[in-house]
Amino acid sequence: MHNDLADRSGEVILKEFNDTIDAWLDHGIDWSGLPANLAEAGRYSVLSGGKRLRPVLVLMSCRCVGGQVEQALPAAGALELVHCFSLIHDDLPALDNDLLRRNRPTLHVHSGEAMAILAGDLTLTMAFAELAKADLSAEKRIALVDELARSTTDMVAGQVYDTLGGLPEERSAIEQVQLVHQNKTGALIRCACRMGAICGNAETDTMRALTNYGDAMGLMFQIVDDLIDVTQSAEHVGKATGKDADLGKLTYPEVLGIDACHEQVERLLQEAIEALSPLGNAADDLAVLAKFMAIRTR
Ligand code: IPE
Ligand code: IPE
Ligand code: MG
Ligand code: MG
Ligand code: MG
Repeated sequence: MHNDLADRSGEVILKEFNDTIDAWLDHGIDWSGLPANLAEAGRYSVLSGGKRLRPVLVLMSCRCVGGQVEQALPAAGALELVHCFSLIHDDLPALDNDLLRRNRPTLHVHSGEAMAILAGDLTLTMAFAELAKADLSAEKRIALVDELARSTTDMVAGQVYDTLGGLPEERSAIEQVQLVHQNKTGALIRCACRMGAICGNAETDTMRALTNYGDAMGLMFQIVDDLIDVTQSAEHVGKATGKDADLGKLTYPEVLGIDACHEQVERLLQEAIEALSPLGNAADDLAVLAKFMAIRTR
């Protein structure tokens, strides 16, 4: 299945919208009214590359249900802003205490811890401001705000489980790590698919299909992230690796071992692809993207 052609096209699909997303984050947002140091910090984190998977999923999900990509751009940008907020705070000394992100010093290294906290606050707030003023019907804007707010809360809950614990004790280790990953990472990936579906006026069935795809992709994405942490170098990935074990994180490789993680990734990939079947050929790109995310190494 993972032939060279599929691998290459997965990368091409992921990059198709990169310039559009970057241009929106750069010029679609009004950074000018902010204190210069705050704008600098916000732009440092937001305009720093990254795969842009979540906004790409918003745009592709919208297109897949017959919507115009342009209509989904504010939703895509807003979600990437929330993702950037999550990364800024994830890297703070109080959480993962990381020094490298997207091949650059993390924001608290670049701007200091107080600014990193505040620039995180900024990007989170900006996301909702952008949705509120998007050129969409009031009904859609409310649906998007609701979707993004609930998913962001789930992401925060996942970060609490990851960093502070509090997981339901009656659950087994694998059920616990699944709960962490579905929340800290799965929630925003599922949200990407659902926001795209909202923008494209998806019917109930297609919304359900994209939600199921997003659920499988989201969990798969974090298992692959855990595998990358134990198998790749910081130079290759652009962020520190080999740290999850040091920090005592509950991860899939820790609970299941590497081989079983690969089996889980394969299972979730099949689940993601099968979820797309009601969408027919319109979802081919989403299937190729899922295959690429299953074998990524950074
Ligand atoms: C990193 O997400 C944080 C996780 C949820 C694992 P990405 O791997 O999508 O990071 P960027 O956006 O490409 O830098
Ligand atoms: C990140 O999980 C989850 C969020 C940022 C919400 P990780 O802590 O594993 O992400 P990386 O490995 O630092 O990118
Ligand atoms: Mg973390
Ligand atoms: Mg981290
Ligand atoms: Mg990680």
